[in-house]
Amino acid sequence: MTQLTATFTSTLAKLKEEGRFRALSPAAGIDFSSNDYLGFKSHPALRQTAIAAFEADLETGAGGSRLLRGNHPAHEKLEQEAAAFFGTETALFFANGFLANHALMSALPAPHDIILFDALIHASLRDGIQANPAKHIRIMHNDLNAYEDALSKNKNCWVVVESIYSMDGDLAPLHDLLKLCKKYNAYLIVDEAHATGIFGDKGKGLTHGLQCEHLITVHTCGKALGVAGGLVCAPDIIIQTLINKARSFIYSTAPMPIQAVLVSKALELCAAADQQRARLFELCDLARQHFSSSPSPIIPVILGDEQKALQAAATLQAKGFDIRAIRPPTVPQGSSRLRITLNATLRNEDVVALANALQEIA
Ligand SMILES: Cc1ncc(COP(=O)(O)O)c(C=O)c1O
Repeated sequence: MTQLTATFTSTLAKLKEEGRFRALSPAAGIDFSSNDYLGFKSHPALRQTAIAAFEADLETGAGGSRLLRGNHPAHEKLEQEAAAFFGTETALFFANGFLANHALMSALPAPHDIILFDALIHASLRDGIQANPAKHIRIMHNDLNAYEDALSKNKNCWVVVESIYSMDGDLAPLHDLLKLCKKYNAYLIVDEAHATGIFGDKGKGLTHGLQCEHLITVHTCGKALGVAGGLVCAPDIIIQTLINKARSFIYSTAPMPIQAVLVSKALELCAAADQQRARLFELCDLARQHFSSSPSPIIPVILGDEQKALQAAATLQAKGFDIRAIRPPTVPQGSSRLRITLNATLRNEDVVALANALQEIA
């Protein structure tokens, strides 16, 4: 065994010992774990749109970076539609939400700026912050006093939050944060990944209708929208800055044109999906009658210990439910959990059966 192989072997062995080893497994069982909140990933209209686009000779690849040969009319069409839909000046499309978040955090704050980020923000925002030399301050989850304290002591601040937290399902106090950002002239970055398509008028997200020239939002397209991608919505000056400074935008082949075509269609479907949203909220209510106290379709069942979470997930999987254990470093130490999600295609019986199964393993 080479030295390198030995290092990998012992790293993996340690992860196994700590209950943190990750392995791929196929999707099986009733879907209580995807982010396909509206059931769009198998929407016939999206499939038909793809077939029609390729039959009309759409190329598969973009062929280059957006700044070179890869800028396709489908990208620009989507960006105009997204800006109109989400009510922002301009939008910029990335291949996924991770890249969009990384671009924002690594390219926008200047080295002398201060980034105030919620302790529970997504890894993509964290990694972007790490790539930026600006000073950063971790704020206790949703602690408005801590934000105000930091904002009052520092100039040129960026506040970074998620509108719905991906592992906890709770909401950021957006109205109060926006007030603070206006008071202290700070930028507010809101990752709407788990709100897009679900919350706000026509699924436009929880920031929809909030007025502020310092507000930047990210709408991911691989969750409720059922496709893939990340749309940054912001004033034009911010989008121009990203086009000129974001390395993940500049030095990467543009998203496949079909992705933009499908996200355009998904936005159209999203605007007309009040019924699916109503059904999803009905299921959220049903779950709240039995086992949920979450305000969203993301329901954490915190078990603490990695092994407990793994065992509980395995038991539920054996009963036919697709539920996964989430462990550190994705969530804080000691807060390993089951992350249960609801989607509009579930039946009432599925939720009740899960409630019974949870009761049994409690
Ligand atoms: C809150 C949040 N932001 C961003 C992302 C990344 O988005 P994408 O899956 O499109 O890369 C995720 C995905 O897990 C997420 O949960």
